[in-house]
Amino acid sequence: MKPSTKLKHPALVKSLRKAYSAERAACFAYIGHARSLKDPEEKRRVRQIEEDEWDHRKHVLEIMNLYDIPVSRYNEIKFYVIGKIIGYSCFLIGRFMPYFFAGKLESGNVCEYFVMIQYFHSLGIDTHDEILYEMGIKEKEHEVYFLELIRTEKWLPYFEKVFSWGEHSSLNDVDLENKYPVVKSEMYCKSHVPNSGIPTDASPEKNSPESAK
Ligand SMILES: [Fe+2]
Ligand SMILES: [Fe+2]
Repeated sequence: MKPSTKLKHPALVKSLRKAYSAERAACFAYIGHARSLKDPEEKRRVRQIEEDEWDHRKHVLEIMNLYDIPVSRYNEIKFYVIGKIIGYSCFLIGRFMPYFFAGKLESGNVCEYFVMIQYFHSLGIDTHDEILYEMGIKEKEHEVYFLELIRTEKWLPYFEKVFSWGEHSSLNDVDLENKYPVVKSEMYCKSHVPNSGIPTDASPEKNSPESAK
């Protein structure tokens, strides 16, 4: 059954519902990852990243609630299982692979939040720019941290060739050294927005958080 929502933008609604559930999958994965690590500082850092992901889930839900977007039970179950499997697998696949795949995953998550900003803008809504920008940048920080930990590993060039992520390839165009300000966040991830994804009857007035109440 299709969700009943006051936000007339199917791609954005889908993206928010997926992000909400996928953030918990990331948390479960990092719980397992932290437990599998030996170095106390690395453990502490991965736990901190897990906390960031719980915060993201909370913020995404706040946005969803504004527009009466229901949580997807299907996504919750699917990503629950995915997160748990990844978490347990961290005990079996050594040190390099959990960091590599976490980095690649984070790299892909960055644009999800910047694309949401653009989707909201296509509806005339800029209320959520700051929090979505903050989450996108945080995902980039996670990506950079994981890459730093494996930059000198001998496996990295091979994995980069196969999985298209690593020292010379990223799934986003964010550069933490030269960041755009929030007001220019539309400069990011342009190639990730195929079209606005809005149906023709959508208008800014119908879709503002105020009108959603
Ligand atoms: Fe996140
Ligand atoms: Fe993250």
